[in-house]
Amino acid sequence: MLTHVLTLTDTTPSASSSTASRRQRIGARIGDGAALLLPGGALQTRSNDTEQRFRPDSDFFYLTGLAEPGAVLLLRPGREPEFTLFVQPRDPKAEIWSGRRIGPEGAIHRYGADAAHPLGELAERLPALLDGVESVYLPFHHAPDLHLALLAALAHLHRRDRLGEQRPECLRDARALLGEDRIFKDAAALTTLRRAVEISAEGHLAAIRGVRPGLSERDIEAIIEHRFRRLGASGPGYGTIVGGGDNATILHYVANDAPLIAGQLLLVDAGAELDCFTGDITRTYPISGRFSPEQRDLYQIVLAANEAGIREARVGSDIDAIHGVCLRILAEGLLDLHLVEGGVDEVIEQQRYLPYYMHRTSHWLGADVHDAGHYTLGRRPRPLQPGIVLTVEPALYIPADDPRAPPGLRGCGIRIEDDVLIRAEGPEVLSAGVPKAVAELEAILGSDPLL
Ligand code: GLY
Ligand code: MN
Ligand code: MN
Repeated sequence: MLTHVLTLTDTTPSASSSTASRRQRIGARIGDGAALLLPGGALQTRSNDTEQRFRPDSDFFYLTGLAEPGAVLLLRPGREPEFTLFVQPRDPKAEIWSGRRIGPEGAIHRYGADAAHPLGELAERLPALLDGVESVYLPFHHAPDLHLALLAALAHLHRRDRLGEQRPECLRDARALLGEDRIFKDAAALTTLRRAVEISAEGHLAAIRGVRPGLSERDIEAIIEHRFRRLGASGPGYGTIVGGGDNATILHYVANDAPLIAGQLLLVDAGAELDCFTGDITRTYPISGRFSPEQRDLYQIVLAANEAGIREARVGSDIDAIHGVCLRILAEGLLDLHLVEGGVDEVIEQQRYLPYYMHRTSHWLGADVHDAGHYTLGRRPRPLQPGIVLTVEPALYIPADDPRAPPGLRGCGIRIEDDVLIRAEGPEVLSAGVPKAVAELEAILGSDPLL
């Protein structure tokens, strides 16, 4: 184990009190008999020998604030050392090629580890560190290398049984453990998430002000992501969607390379990521600055659903109820447009709305765009509680070849997505900085041609 050797020139603490208190909360939850083993994430190949920019594992970053490939956290509540980090060793030659490393000293001095070791020592040190631990939490869904290292450590302890060493007999999934902490945003998480959503809103505003026919979807993507980076975000928290015309009806459209055509609508779904928290906002608006009467009527249906869904986002309700409230308004709208037939209850029960609305209305939001935390408790939808952040994103998508739809609406996709904090006193719309009322949008559309 390294002791406090002051060899770093930069000893500014990067470990925040928020990561320390998160480790404490998790430690209290798992108790003295358990340990938590978490991988920090690996570099992902983009093509051949080039890699994506590194983005740490959300759980790992949540507990450490450290963004370095390959790192491993071991937390052993009530034991010494309690918080151990395994990190890449300092290596001046390698750092010239692939960037600075904190090294074990940095892990202690800047990230608050009680002990830190080079990554290469993980396998040999793990058995001793797990001796006497009854259960180990680790993520089941990824990190096969870490699984192998753990199994090897368990096998080693098994062989040394007769010498009095005791191995953990229970492996538990860390995902639920972390999810149940992450779902309630603590003060630091909320501060970061609020700022991520604010930056997301700034990106959307720039796009709304900059849009006009003759540009391309790629211009809008560039405007948005320029704002994100300029305002301190690492970039988008998920693939930015800029879909003009019937591209808006493709839910995961990310090509963003078609020209913007006068008279069509543009759907933009974009969120900025800041310190591993992301916004998730969608707005839809006319490329030439004014909705046609038909487009406006369709838009008003989705907007009414969005606003009703947000009102439903209150303590004690749940995301099935939000979905239900939105669905009823969307179904009534589809009936008014003669796109479906029957009574509204029939349309809902028989899912006749599905060709026009095929996704759910809400998901948790935080470090991951589709964030951690159980959606059901027992078999019932989880009651909403203060500190939860979710999206409300109703939509209508009219297929381009729908013979029942008026020609002016064929190929229109409209989604309006906001980020909502559940509070005791009622929902707080974190993304309120981006207009969505028709008049407010029309007042600023194309007002500031950046390109
Ligand atoms: N942008 C991903 C989502 O809205 O869920
Ligand atoms: Mn979303
Ligand atoms: Mn979205």
